[in-house]
Amino acid sequence: MKPTILLLAAAVLATPGHSPRSSCRDIRDAHVIRQGSSLLLAGKSWRAVGANVYWLGLDENVLPPPGEPYYVPLKASYPTRGRITEIMAIVKALGGTMIRAHTLGVSTGNPLSVMPSLGVVNQQAFESIDWAVYQARQYGLRLMVPLTDNYDYYHGGKYDFLRWNGWNLTQSVDANNLLVQQFYTNHTVVESFKGYIHTLLTHVNRYTGLSYAEDPTIFAYETGNELSGPVWGDMDVPADWLRDISSYVKELAPRKLVVDGTYGVNRTHLGVEEVDVFSDHYYPISLSKLKEDLALVAGVNKTYFAGEYDWVGQTSSGASNGDSLSEWYSVIEQTPGAVGDAFWSLFGHNVPDCSTFVNHIDGFTLQYNNPANSAYTDSRIELIRQHLVKMSEGVSISADAALPAVTCPASTMVSTP
Ligand SMILES: *[C@@H]1O[C@H](CO)[C@@H](O)[C@H](O)[C@H]1NC(C)=O
Ligand SMILES: *[C@@H]1O[C@H](CO)[C@@H](O)[C@H](O)[C@H]1NC(C)=O
Ligand SMILES: *[C@@H]1O[C@H](CO)[C@@H](O)[C@H](O)[C@H]1NC(C)=O
Ligand SMILES: *[C@@H]1O[C@H](CO)[C@@H](O)[C@H](O)[C@H]1NC(C)=O
Repeated sequence: MKPTILLLAAAVLATPGHSPRSSCRDIRDAHVIRQGSSLLLAGKSWRAVGANVYWLGLDENVLPPPGEPYYVPLKASYPTRGRITEIMAIVKALGGTMIRAHTLGVSTGNPLSVMPSLGVVNQQAFESIDWAVYQARQYGLRLMVPLTDNYDYYHGGKYDFLRWNGWNLTQSVDANNLLVQQFYTNHTVVESFKGYIHTLLTHVNRYTGLSYAEDPTIFAYETGNELSGPVWGDMDVPADWLRDISSYVKELAPRKLVVDGTYGVNRTHLGVEEVDVFSDHYYPISLSKLKEDLALVAGVNKTYFAGEYDWVGQTSSGASNGDSLSEWYSVIEQTPGAVGDAFWSLFGHNVPDCSTFVNHIDGFTLQYNNPANSAYTDSRIELIRQHLVKMSEGVSISADAALPAVTCPASTMVSTP
Protein backbone atom coordinates (compact mmCIF):
# COMPACT_ATOMS: atom_id res chain seq x y z
CA MET A 1 0.00 0.00 0.00
CA LYS A 2 1.15 3.51 -0.76
CA PRO A 3 -0.41 5.55 2.03
CA THR A 4 0.55 9.02 0.76
CA ILE A 5 -1.08 8.67 -2.63
CA LEU A 6 -4.18 7.05 -1.20
CA LEU A 7 -4.56 9.73 1.42
CA LEU A 8 -4.25 12.62 -0.97
CA ALA A 9 -6.82 11.13 -3.32
CA ALA A 10 -9.12 10.28 -0.46
CA ALA A 11 -8.89 13.70 1.16
CA VAL A 12 -10.63 15.18 -1.86
CA LEU A 13 -13.48 12.69 -1.58
CA ALA A 14 -14.10 13.15 2.10
CA THR A 15 -14.67 16.81 2.76
CA PRO A 16 -17.07 17.63 5.61
CA GLY A 17 -20.69 17.24 4.66
CA HIS A 18 -19.72 15.00 1.77
CA SER A 19 -20.68 11.51 2.84
CA PRO A 20 -17.65 9.24 2.87
CA ARG A 21 -19.99 6.36 2.12
CA SER A 22 -20.28 7.59 -1.45
CA SER A 23 -16.69 6.53 -2.18
CA CYS A 24 -16.88 2.79 -1.84
CA ARG A 25 -13.35 2.11 -3.01
CA ASP A 26 -11.88 4.21 -0.21
CA ILE A 27 -10.03 1.81 2.09
CA ARG A 28 -10.97 4.02 5.03
CA ASP A 29 -14.57 2.88 4.64
CA ALA A 30 -13.58 -0.75 5.09
CA HIS A 31 -14.00 -2.28 8.53
CA VAL A 32 -11.19 -4.09 10.30
CA ILE A 33 -12.47 -7.63 10.85
CA ARG A 34 -11.23 -10.55 12.91
CA GLN A 35 -10.77 -13.97 11.40
CA GLY A 36 -9.64 -16.40 14.08
CA SER A 37 -6.34 -15.11 15.41
CA SER A 38 -5.82 -12.42 12.71
CA LEU A 39 -7.17 -9.02 11.86
CA LEU A 40 -7.94 -8.22 8.25
CA LEU A 41 -8.54 -4.99 6.38
CA ALA A 42 -9.92 -5.18 2.85
CA GLY A 43 -8.91 -8.84 2.64
CA LYS A 44 -5.31 -8.32 3.77
CA SER A 45 -3.65 -8.95 7.09
CA TRP A 46 -3.75 -5.79 9.20
CA ARG A 47 -1.79 -5.15 12.36
CA ALA A 48 -2.67 -2.65 15.04
CA VAL A 49 0.42 -0.71 16.06
CA GLY A 50 0.84 2.77 17.40
CA ALA A 51 0.60 4.97 20.42
CA ASN A 52 -1.54 5.68 23.41
CA VAL A 53 -2.73 9.27 23.24
CA TYR A 54 -5.03 9.43 26.21
CA TRP A 55 -5.80 13.18 26.06
CA LEU A 56 -7.35 13.55 22.57
CA GLY A 57 -10.84 14.20 23.92
CA LEU A 58 -9.93 16.06 27.12
CA ASP A 59 -6.51 16.99 28.51
CA GLU A 60 -5.09 17.79 31.93
CA ASN A 61 -1.60 18.98 30.99
CA VAL A 62 -1.92 22.50 29.58
CA LEU A 63 -3.48 25.86 30.30
CA PRO A 64 -6.03 26.34 27.54
CA PRO A 65 -6.08 29.57 25.49
CA PRO A 66 -7.85 32.45 27.29
CA GLY A 67 -11.64 32.16 27.12
CA GLU A 68 -11.62 28.42 26.42
CA PRO A 69 -13.35 26.06 28.90
CA TYR A 70 -11.14 25.09 31.84
CA TYR A 71 -12.23 23.01 34.82
CA VAL A 72 -9.67 24.13 37.38
CA PRO A 73 -10.11 21.45 40.10
CA LEU A 74 -9.03 18.75 37.63
CA LYS A 75 -7.00 21.01 35.28
CA ALA A 76 -9.24 19.70 32.51
CA SER A 77 -9.44 21.41 29.12
CA TYR A 78 -10.19 20.45 25.53
CA PRO A 79 -7.09 20.04 23.37
CA THR A 80 -6.76 22.42 20.43
CA ARG A 81 -7.50 21.07 16.97
CA GLY A 82 -3.89 21.66 16.01
CA ARG A 83 -2.63 19.42 18.82
CA ILE A 84 -4.96 16.63 17.76
CA THR A 85 -3.99 16.90 14.09
CA GLU A 86 -0.26 16.96 14.81
CA ILE A 87 -0.56 13.66 16.71
CA MET A 88 -2.00 11.98 13.62
CA ALA A 89 0.95 13.17 11.54
CA ILE A 90 3.41 11.92 14.17
CA VAL A 91 1.84 8.47 14.41
CA LYS A 92 1.99 8.20 10.59
CA ALA A 93 5.66 9.26 10.63
CA LEU A 94 6.35 6.53 13.19
CA GLY A 95 4.79 3.92 10.90
CA GLY A 96 1.74 3.41 13.13
CA THR A 97 -1.69 2.25 12.01
CA MET A 98 -3.69 3.15 15.09
CA ILE A 99 -4.07 5.08 18.33
CA ARG A 100 -5.52 3.92 21.62
CA ALA A 101 -7.26 6.89 23.18
CA HIS A 102 -8.97 6.85 26.57
CA THR A 103 -10.77 10.19 26.43
CA LEU A 104 -12.46 9.43 23.10
CA GLY A 105 -14.60 7.05 25.16
CA VAL A 106 -14.00 7.74 28.85
CA SER A 107 -15.73 11.08 29.46
CA THR A 108 -17.80 11.14 32.63
CA GLY A 109 -18.21 13.04 35.87
CA ASN A 110 -16.83 16.54 35.35
CA PRO A 111 -18.44 19.61 33.75
CA LEU A 112 -16.41 19.20 30.53
CA SER A 113 -17.31 15.51 30.12
CA VAL A 114 -19.72 14.01 27.60
CA MET A 115 -21.78 12.93 30.63
CA PRO A 116 -21.13 15.31 33.56
CA SER A 117 -23.81 13.61 35.65
CA LEU A 118 -26.18 10.69 35.17
CA GLY A 119 -28.23 11.10 31.99
CA VAL A 120 -26.98 14.65 31.29
CA VAL A 121 -25.27 15.02 27.91
CA ASN A 122 -22.85 17.87 27.19
CA GLN A 123 -22.74 18.31 23.40
CA GLN A 124 -19.70 20.59 23.63
CA ALA A 125 -17.56 17.65 24.76
CA PHE A 126 -18.08 15.93 21.42
CA GLU A 127 -16.26 18.65 19.48
CA SER A 128 -12.72 17.44 20.25
CA ILE A 129 -13.77 13.78 19.97
CA ASP A 130 -15.41 14.38 16.57
CA TRP A 131 -12.33 16.22 15.36
CA ALA A 132 -9.99 13.46 16.56
CA VAL A 133 -12.03 10.74 14.85
CA TYR A 134 -12.19 12.81 11.67
CA GLN A 135 -8.48 13.59 11.66
CA ALA A 136 -7.59 9.94 12.32
CA ARG A 137 -9.69 9.09 9.27
CA GLN A 138 -7.97 11.75 7.15
CA TYR A 139 -4.60 10.26 8.06
CA GLY A 140 -5.74 6.68 7.45
CA LEU A 141 -5.37 5.71 11.11
CA ARG A 142 -7.71 3.61 13.24
CA LEU A 143 -8.77 4.07 16.85
CA MET A 144 -9.15 1.74 19.82
CA VAL A 145 -11.33 3.37 22.45
CA PRO A 146 -11.86 2.31 26.10
CA LEU A 147 -15.38 2.89 27.46
CA THR A 148 -14.53 3.50 31.11
CA ASP A 149 -11.60 3.41 33.52
CA ASN A 150 -10.80 1.38 36.60
CA TYR A 151 -9.67 4.59 38.30
CA ASP A 152 -11.03 7.95 39.39
CA TYR A 153 -8.98 10.16 37.03
CA TYR A 154 -9.91 13.60 35.67
CA HIS A 155 -11.66 12.01 32.67
CA GLY A 156 -13.88 9.77 34.81
CA GLY A 157 -14.27 6.04 35.30
CA LYS A 158 -16.21 3.30 37.02
CA TYR A 159 -16.58 5.29 40.25
CA ASP A 160 -18.84 7.81 38.47
CA PHE A 161 -21.39 5.10 37.68
CA LEU A 162 -21.24 3.87 41.27
CA ARG A 163 -21.70 7.37 42.77
CA TRP A 164 -24.49 8.25 40.35
CA ASN A 165 -26.40 5.26 41.65
CA GLY A 166 -26.03 5.99 45.34
CA TRP A 167 -22.84 4.06 46.07
CA ASN A 168 -20.66 6.80 47.48
CA LEU A 169 -17.30 5.25 46.70
CA THR A 170 -14.02 6.93 45.74
CA GLN A 171 -10.77 5.37 44.64
CA SER A 172 -8.75 7.01 47.39
CA VAL A 173 -10.93 5.53 50.13
CA ASP A 174 -12.59 2.49 48.57
CA ALA A 175 -10.19 0.91 46.06
CA ASN A 176 -10.22 -2.27 48.18
CA ASN A 177 -13.85 -2.06 49.27
CA LEU A 178 -15.76 -5.16 48.14
CA LEU A 179 -18.60 -2.84 47.14
CA VAL A 180 -16.65 -1.66 44.07
CA GLN A 181 -17.88 -4.90 42.50
CA GLN A 182 -21.33 -3.31 42.32
CA PHE A 183 -20.03 -1.72 39.12
CA TYR A 184 -20.16 -5.17 37.52
CA THR A 185 -22.89 -6.88 39.50
CA ASN A 186 -25.60 -4.31 40.24
CA HIS A 187 -28.28 -4.20 37.56
CA THR A 188 -29.00 -0.49 38.06
CA VAL A 189 -25.32 0.45 37.82
CA VAL A 190 -24.80 -1.76 34.75
CA GLU A 191 -27.85 -0.20 33.07
CA SER A 192 -26.47 3.31 33.62
CA PHE A 193 -23.13 2.27 32.10
CA LYS A 194 -25.02 0.89 29.11
CA GLY A 195 -26.94 4.16 28.88
CA TYR A 196 -23.61 5.97 28.62
CA ILE A 197 -22.40 3.56 25.94
CA HIS A 198 -25.62 4.22 24.03
CA THR A 199 -25.10 8.00 24.23
CA LEU A 200 -21.56 7.66 22.95
CA LEU A 201 -22.08 5.16 20.15
CA THR A 202 -25.17 6.83 18.70
CA HIS A 203 -23.55 10.28 18.57
CA VAL A 204 -23.23 11.47 14.96
CA ASN A 205 -19.89 13.08 14.13
CA ARG A 206 -20.43 16.50 12.59
CA TYR A 207 -17.36 16.16 10.36
CA THR A 208 -18.04 12.70 8.93
CA GLY A 209 -21.82 12.35 9.17
CA LEU A 210 -21.30 8.93 10.74
CA SER A 211 -22.21 7.77 14.22
CA TYR A 212 -19.33 6.37 16.26
CA ALA A 213 -21.10 3.00 16.00
CA GLU A 214 -20.96 3.18 12.20
CA ASP A 215 -17.57 4.78 11.69
CA PRO A 216 -14.93 2.19 10.70
CA THR A 217 -12.20 4.59 11.90
CA ILE A 218 -13.01 3.39 15.42
CA PHE A 219 -12.12 -0.25 14.81
CA ALA A 220 -12.50 -1.39 18.40
CA TYR A 221 -14.15 -0.46 21.66
CA GLU A 222 -12.56 -1.75 24.84
CA THR A 223 -14.79 -2.57 27.83
CA GLY A 224 -12.56 -0.42 30.03
CA ASN A 225 -9.01 0.47 30.96
CA GLU A 226 -7.16 -1.83 33.37
CA LEU A 227 -10.40 -3.14 34.85
CA SER A 228 -9.88 -4.93 38.15
CA GLY A 229 -11.83 -5.85 41.26
CA PRO A 230 -11.11 -4.86 44.89
CA VAL A 231 -7.42 -5.72 44.52
CA TRP A 232 -5.54 -3.93 41.77
CA GLY A 233 -4.64 -6.38 39.00
CA ASP A 234 -6.80 -9.20 40.42
CA MET A 235 -8.62 -9.49 37.06
CA ASP A 236 -11.83 -9.85 39.06
CA VAL A 237 -14.18 -8.80 36.29
CA PRO A 238 -17.13 -11.16 36.07
CA ALA A 239 -17.28 -13.02 32.76
CA ASP A 240 -21.05 -12.43 32.73
CA TRP A 241 -20.52 -8.67 32.83
CA LEU A 242 -17.96 -8.87 30.03
CA ARG A 243 -20.39 -10.90 27.91
CA ASP A 244 -23.24 -8.48 28.65
CA ILE A 245 -21.25 -5.33 27.79
CA SER A 246 -19.58 -6.86 24.73
CA SER A 247 -22.87 -8.03 23.28
CA TYR A 248 -24.40 -4.63 23.98
CA VAL A 249 -21.59 -2.92 22.04
CA LYS A 250 -22.12 -5.35 19.15
CA GLU A 251 -25.88 -4.82 19.24
CA LEU A 252 -25.31 -1.08 18.74
CA ALA A 253 -22.27 -1.47 16.48
CA PRO A 254 -22.26 -4.91 14.85
CA ARG A 255 -19.02 -4.38 12.92
CA LYS A 256 -16.96 -3.14 15.85
CA LEU A 257 -14.34 -5.37 17.44
CA VAL A 258 -14.53 -5.70 21.22
CA VAL A 259 -11.44 -5.70 23.43
CA ASP A 260 -11.63 -7.21 26.92
CA GLY A 261 -10.46 -4.29 29.05
CA THR A 262 -9.57 -6.45 32.06
CA TYR A 263 -6.03 -5.77 33.34
CA GLY A 264 -4.64 -9.12 32.20
CA VAL A 265 -5.96 -12.23 30.50
CA ASN A 266 -8.47 -13.93 32.80
CA ARG A 267 -8.98 -17.62 31.89
CA THR A 268 -12.69 -17.41 32.71
CA HIS A 269 -13.04 -14.82 29.91
CA LEU A 270 -11.53 -16.91 27.14
CA GLY A 271 -14.87 -18.48 26.29
CA VAL A 272 -16.74 -15.18 25.93
CA GLU A 273 -17.74 -15.38 22.31
CA GLU A 274 -18.31 -11.64 21.77
CA VAL A 275 -14.72 -10.73 22.68
CA ASP A 276 -12.34 -10.38 19.74
CA VAL A 277 -9.18 -9.13 21.40
CA PHE A 278 -7.54 -9.89 24.75
CA SER A 279 -5.02 -7.52 26.18
CA ASP A 280 -2.50 -6.68 28.91
CA HIS A 281 -0.18 -3.82 29.94
CA TYR A 282 3.57 -3.91 30.58
CA TYR A 283 5.24 -1.87 33.32
CA PRO A 284 7.99 -2.84 32.80
CA ILE A 285 8.44 -4.96 29.66
CA SER A 286 8.12 -8.66 30.49
CA LEU A 287 8.79 -11.48 28.03
CA SER A 288 7.39 -14.15 30.32
CA LYS A 289 4.10 -12.33 30.81
CA LEU A 290 3.79 -11.77 27.05
CA LYS A 291 4.41 -15.44 26.27
CA GLU A 292 1.95 -16.63 28.92
CA ASP A 293 -0.76 -14.31 27.63
CA LEU A 294 -0.13 -15.29 24.01
CA ALA A 295 -0.35 -18.99 24.85
CA LEU A 296 -3.70 -18.51 26.62
CA VAL A 297 -5.20 -16.56 23.74
CA ALA A 298 -3.82 -18.87 21.02
CA GLY A 299 -5.77 -21.69 22.70
CA VAL A 300 -9.06 -20.01 21.76
CA ASN A 301 -8.09 -18.81 18.27
CA LYS A 302 -8.48 -15.11 19.13
CA THR A 303 -6.23 -12.07 18.96
CA TYR A 304 -3.94 -10.39 21.48
CA PHE A 305 -2.98 -6.74 21.75
CA ALA A 306 -0.39 -5.29 24.15
CA GLY A 307 -2.42 -2.21 25.07
CA GLU A 308 0.27 -0.25 26.94
CA TYR A 309 3.96 -0.67 27.59
CA ASP A 310 6.85 1.21 29.15
CA TRP A 311 8.86 2.28 26.09
CA VAL A 312 11.53 4.02 28.21
CA GLY A 313 13.06 0.90 29.81
CA GLN A 314 14.97 2.89 32.42
CA THR A 315 14.30 3.92 35.98
CA SER A 316 14.53 7.62 36.84
CA SER A 317 18.15 7.05 37.92
CA GLY A 318 19.00 5.63 34.46
CA ALA A 319 19.24 1.96 35.44
CA SER A 320 17.76 -0.38 32.87
CA ASN A 321 14.30 -1.63 33.78
CA GLY A 322 12.55 -4.72 32.43
CA ASP A 323 13.32 -7.16 29.62
CA SER A 324 14.71 -6.16 26.23
CA LEU A 325 12.21 -4.13 24.22
CA SER A 326 13.59 -5.41 20.93
CA GLU A 327 13.17 -9.05 22.02
CA TRP A 328 9.65 -8.29 23.18
CA TYR A 329 8.92 -6.70 19.79
CA SER A 330 10.34 -9.79 18.02
CA VAL A 331 7.92 -12.07 19.85
CA ILE A 332 4.99 -9.88 18.78
CA GLU A 333 6.28 -9.66 15.20
CA GLN A 334 6.63 -13.43 14.95
CA THR A 335 3.45 -14.60 16.71
CA PRO A 336 0.45 -14.67 14.38
CA GLY A 337 -2.16 -14.06 17.13
CA ALA A 338 -0.26 -11.01 18.42
CA VAL A 339 -1.98 -8.34 16.38
CA GLY A 340 -0.11 -5.38 17.79
CA ASP A 341 0.75 -2.97 20.57
CA ALA A 342 0.66 0.69 21.60
CA PHE A 343 3.34 2.46 23.64
CA TRP A 344 2.53 4.67 26.61
CA SER A 345 2.33 7.58 25.78
CA LEU A 346 2.58 10.23 23.07
CA PHE A 347 2.50 14.03 23.35
CA GLY A 348 3.25 16.75 20.77
CA HIS A 349 3.69 20.50 20.71
CA ASN A 350 1.31 22.82 22.52
CA VAL A 351 -0.09 23.81 19.09
CA PRO A 352 -0.58 26.56 17.92
CA ASP A 353 2.62 27.13 19.94
CA CYS A 354 5.01 24.99 17.90
CA SER A 355 8.02 25.82 20.07
CA THR A 356 6.87 24.11 23.28
CA PHE A 357 6.29 20.40 23.86
CA VAL A 358 3.58 19.27 26.26
CA ASN A 359 4.83 17.10 29.09
CA HIS A 360 3.04 14.66 31.35
CA ILE A 361 4.60 13.88 34.69
CA ASP A 362 4.49 10.06 34.67
CA GLY A 363 7.98 9.57 33.20
CA PHE A 364 6.70 7.89 30.01
CA THR A 365 6.07 10.97 27.84
CA LEU A 366 7.31 10.48 24.27
CA GLN A 367 7.97 13.77 22.47
CA TYR A 368 8.73 13.04 18.84
CA ASN A 369 11.70 14.96 17.41
CA ASN A 370 12.12 17.13 20.48
CA PRO A 371 15.62 18.63 20.07
CA ALA A 372 16.03 18.28 23.85
CA ASN A 373 15.69 14.46 23.71
CA SER A 374 18.76 12.54 24.88
CA ALA A 375 20.57 10.24 22.42
CA TYR A 376 19.16 7.32 24.43
CA THR A 377 15.60 8.62 24.07
CA ASP A 378 15.93 9.10 20.33
CA SER A 379 17.42 5.62 19.95
CA ARG A 380 14.35 4.20 21.69
CA ILE A 381 12.03 6.19 19.41
CA GLU A 382 13.96 4.86 16.39
CA LEU A 383 13.53 1.33 17.72
CA ILE A 384 9.79 1.92 18.08
CA ARG A 385 9.62 3.17 14.50
CA GLN A 386 11.52 0.17 13.22
CA HIS A 387 8.97 -2.12 14.90
CA LEU A 388 5.93 -0.15 13.75
CA VAL A 389 7.11 -0.07 10.14
CA LYS A 390 7.82 -3.80 10.20
CA MET A 391 4.36 -4.53 11.61
CA SER A 392 2.45 -2.12 9.37
CA GLU A 393 4.30 -2.49 6.09
CA GLY A 394 6.25 -5.72 6.48
CA VAL A 395 9.42 -3.75 5.74
CA SER A 396 12.67 -3.81 7.73
CA ILE A 397 14.36 -0.45 8.24
CA SER A 398 17.57 -0.07 10.16
CA ALA A 399 17.27 0.47 13.90
CA ASP A 400 18.96 3.87 13.67
CA ALA A 401 17.12 5.14 10.58
CA ALA A 402 16.58 8.89 10.94
CA LEU A 403 13.17 9.98 12.20
CA PRO A 404 11.23 11.78 9.45
CA ALA A 405 10.35 15.40 10.13
CA VAL A 406 6.77 16.33 10.96
CA THR A 407 5.79 19.94 10.33
CA CYS A 408 4.05 21.95 13.01
CA PRO A 409 1.25 22.83 12.59
CA ALA A 410 0.47 19.67 10.60
CA SER A 411 -1.88 19.57 7.64
CA THR A 412 -5.51 18.83 8.50
CA MET A 413 -5.78 16.97 5.14
CA VAL A 414 -8.98 18.91 4.47
CA SER A 415 -9.29 19.94 0.83
CA THR A 416 -10.18 23.59 0.40
CA PRO A 417 -12.52 24.53 -2.45
C1 LIG B 1 -9.37 -20.28 13.72
O1 LIG B 1 -10.35 -19.49 13.08
C2 LIG B 1 -10.23 -19.46 11.68
C3 LIG B 1 -11.23 -18.44 11.14
O2 LIG B 1 -12.49 -18.63 11.67
C4 LIG B 1 -10.47 -20.85 11.13
O3 LIG B 1 -10.34 -20.84 9.73
C5 LIG B 1 -9.44 -21.79 11.73
O4 LIG B 1 -9.71 -23.12 11.31
C6 LIG B 1 -9.48 -21.71 13.25
N1 LIG B 1 -8.37 -22.51 13.78
C7 LIG B 1 -8.55 -23.35 14.80
C8 LIG B 1 -7.31 -24.05 15.25
O5 LIG B 1 -9.62 -23.52 15.32
C1 LIG C 1 -28.19 -1.87 43.29
O1 LIG C 1 -28.01 -0.51 43.58
C2 LIG C 1 -29.17 0.15 44.00
C3 LIG C 1 -28.82 1.60 44.22
O2 LIG C 1 -28.73 2.24 43.01
C4 LIG C 1 -29.69 -0.47 45.26
O3 LIG C 1 -30.91 0.15 45.63
C5 LIG C 1 -29.90 -1.94 45.07
O4 LIG C 1 -30.25 -2.55 46.29
C6 LIG C 1 -28.65 -2.61 44.54
N1 LIG C 1 -28.91 -3.98 44.24
C7 LIG C 1 -28.24 -4.97 44.82
C8 LIG C 1 -28.63 -6.35 44.38
O5 LIG C 1 -27.35 -4.79 45.64
C1 LIG D 1 -19.01 10.40 50.21
O1 LIG D 1 -17.82 9.88 50.79
C2 LIG D 1 -16.84 10.85 51.09
C3 LIG D 1 -15.62 10.17 51.64
O2 LIG D 1 -15.37 8.97 51.01
C4 LIG D 1 -17.40 11.84 52.08
O3 LIG D 1 -16.46 12.87 52.29
C5 LIG D 1 -18.68 12.46 51.55
O4 LIG D 1 -19.27 13.27 52.54
C6 LIG D 1 -19.66 11.37 51.17
N1 LIG D 1 -20.83 11.98 50.52
C7 LIG D 1 -22.06 11.62 50.83
C8 LIG D 1 -23.16 12.32 50.07
O5 LIG D 1 -22.34 10.79 51.67
C1 LIG E 1 -11.36 -14.01 36.69
O1 LIG E 1 -12.74 -13.75 36.59
C2 LIG E 1 -13.57 -14.43 37.51
C3 LIG E 1 -15.00 -14.05 37.20
O2 LIG E 1 -15.39 -14.42 35.92
C4 LIG E 1 -13.19 -14.06 38.91
O3 LIG E 1 -13.92 -14.82 39.82
C5 LIG E 1 -11.70 -14.27 39.14
O4 LIG E 1 -11.36 -13.74 40.39
C6 LIG E 1 -10.90 -13.54 38.07
N1 LIG E 1 -9.48 -13.59 38.30
C7 LIG E 1 -8.71 -14.67 38.06
C8 LIG E 1 -7.27 -14.54 38.41
O5 LIG E 1 -9.13 -15.70 37.58
